[in-house]
Amino acid sequence: MNIPFLDLGRMEASLKHRLKERFSDLIDAGIFSGGKEVEALENSVCDFLKSSFSIPCANGTDALELALRALGIGSGDEVIVPAMTWVSTAEAVVMVGAKPVFWDTDEEGLLRKDWGKAVVSKSKAVIPVHLYGKMVDMKELDEKAKSLGLFVIEDAAQAFGAFQYGRAAGTWGDVGCLSFYPTKNIGALGEAGMCLTQEAELAKKIRLLLNHGQPIRDQHELVGRNSRIDTLQAAFLNVMLKDFKENQQKRKTIAKRYLDAFSGIEELGLPSGILEEDHNAHLFVIQTERRDELKAFLAEHSIGTAIHYPRILPKMKPFFSEGLYKNARSLADRCLSIPLNPFIQPIEVETVVEVIKKFFR
Ligand SMILES: Cc1ncc(COP(=O)(O)O)c(C=O)c1O
Repeated sequence: MNIPFLDLGRMEASLKHRLKERFSDLIDAGIFSGGKEVEALENSVCDFLKSSFSIPCANGTDALELALRALGIGSGDEVIVPAMTWVSTAEAVVMVGAKPVFWDTDEEGLLRKDWGKAVVSKSKAVIPVHLYGKMVDMKELDEKAKSLGLFVIEDAAQAFGAFQYGRAAGTWGDVGCLSFYPTKNIGALGEAGMCLTQEAELAKKIRLLLNHGQPIRDQHELVGRNSRIDTLQAAFLNVMLKDFKENQQKRKTIAKRYLDAFSGIEELGLPSGILEEDHNAHLFVIQTERRDELKAFLAEHSIGTAIHYPRILPKMKPFFSEGLYKNARSLADRCLSIPLNPFIQPIEVETVVEVIKKFFR
């Protein structure tokens, strides 16, 4: 039995059929940029996440860059970024001409609570990342950022559908950024992303920035760019959204099975809070000193795994920064993501459980 980490080709037949139908409708309609599907996506996400504004764009990396630009962050500014995240979080900061200032995470990869110590007069914003789908304590972070006069840009790329005190990931910050990369809990059949904001002025600015600064065709109010979402991707996401809750249920069921099965293994660190509402169970990340050995053992048994992520940003050439980043480093050395997605079958989950138990026996 071959158990891939994630195989998107395994989508249910009924979903494939609905996607193909929507594709065919769009070809007949001949609308490939903007249009009703994009509007429908905006409305559905606003409803579901209880956000005042949702602005679809080309991908999650652009969403971060658009957020930074809309907030006026650029050359000479500093932005606090966790040392452990996907590279986009820091990349976007560099792309607008600002400097990412890295701060260590807690043991599970969320920005350490004492990040305020990194604040200097040049600091303009902080970017909490809801890594693996688990939300940073946003009430606390928001209050601290406000008291320090900083903007908050939430990197909620991995946390679609997680809620804290009834408020969705991405709706706490001045701007929240989502990714609909295909592997995400709700993914397009290509690239797509979104900015969320509760402020009309910011929403307007982001919309302008992602469409060449045009409020209407051929009227350019500022220097922007093209980061529009494809209509096709918006349409696919509208189809995918219908299955989101059911898929989340499947993720939580698998997460619970793993937690129950592995709770007695002392050598193994398990994700905390993964069954809670403020975690969308995007990834099931275990931690062990023998990570590479375990990964190889699972591969020998035809079980796919992934490492999110093997290196921390301040130790990468383009972002090099002095510092220990002890927790982030330890996570990078020890983390292993095991298969958790709506497509894996119960028998496959049991096989993963058995093989991991065998390794630690
Ligand atoms: C934490 C984080 N930030 C940003 C992004 C960027 O999203 P995208 O791949 O859609 O550009 C991702 C997606 O991989 C991510 O995981």
